Amino acid sequence: MYETLEILRDGPVATVWMNRPERHNAFNEQVIDDLSRGIAELTDDVAVRVIVLAGRGKSFSAGADLAAMKAAGEAGFDENFAAARKMAEMLRVIAECPKPTIARVQGAALGGGLGLAAACDICVASTVASFATTEVKFGITPATISPYVLRAIGPRQASRYFLTAERIDARRAAEIGLVHEAVEPEQLDAAVARLAQTLAANGPSALEAAKALIRDFAGRTIDEPVREDSARRIATIRSSAEAREGLTAFLEKRAPRWTD
Ligand code: COA
Repeated sequence: MYETLEILRDGPVATVWMNRPERHNAFNEQVIDDLSRGIAELTDDVAVRVIVLAGRGKSFSAGADLAAMKAAGEAGFDENFAAARKMAEMLRVIAECPKPTIARVQGAALGGGLGLAAACDICVASTVASFATTEVKFGITPATISPYVLRAIGPRQASRYFLTAERIDARRAAEIGLVHEAVEPEQLDAAVARLAQTLAANGPSALEAAKALIRDFAGRTIDEPVREDSARRIATIRSSAEAREGLTAFLEKRAPRWTD
């Protein structure tokens, strides 16, 4: 169904493998289209509760396909802009996915590859992985990924790494907030599986609503409208069937049955 992706399902966890290893999973138009459609398909699939994004081969992703970038720059502005909007839309589909997303980064995540990692909710990396916003080396900028990278690492760290294009190793990436956990390469799958299982045990609607809290409240002044909105949200969700089940399960000392 997807020329450049392989989607594997294991119970409630779906892993989206970018599968263009000979190009280090660099994204051309096909990859961008496949990722947008693949994530949208999993978003609509009620059996899927957690999405892992991973890359086949040596690299997680070498970001934008530089040959495609060059071709876009040589096209007319409308065509060039249309291609860039598809990239921005693909990042939006990932970042606004109502289900939790985990980036599993085993190798290089460069340019748009770093952007993918930043757009996911959680990033787990191997200690041999490395990250960089390399764009300025090529006379371009990390434009479409910048909102997500800025959200992850803040403007101060971005003002170093956007401008130097230096490699950031996994431990440093964890220090600056891009990576949540850096683990030895042989521990990567276990660390991702542990997080995925932890997420899958939680209430699916609660996860979606918790993601909305982060999206809607981060960076806001904590004023009366924010307090009112926050109170309305807990009042709404705690009267839901899912909350009834979650709270009853705790009181009855049993696991909740989210899907019954
Ligand atoms: N776009 C298009 N092709 C790419 C690519 C990209 N982003 N990244 C790698 N490739 C291609 C190489 O051109 C090479 O093609 P070839 O076999 O026809 O010569 C092939 O993938 C293998 O890459 P190579 O550089 O030989 O492998 P490597 O293991 O030495 O290094 C990378 C891999 C990813 C570290 C290196 O290719 C690299 O730095 N790529 C640029 C990544 C980048 O900065 N992306 C951000 C773009 S904004």
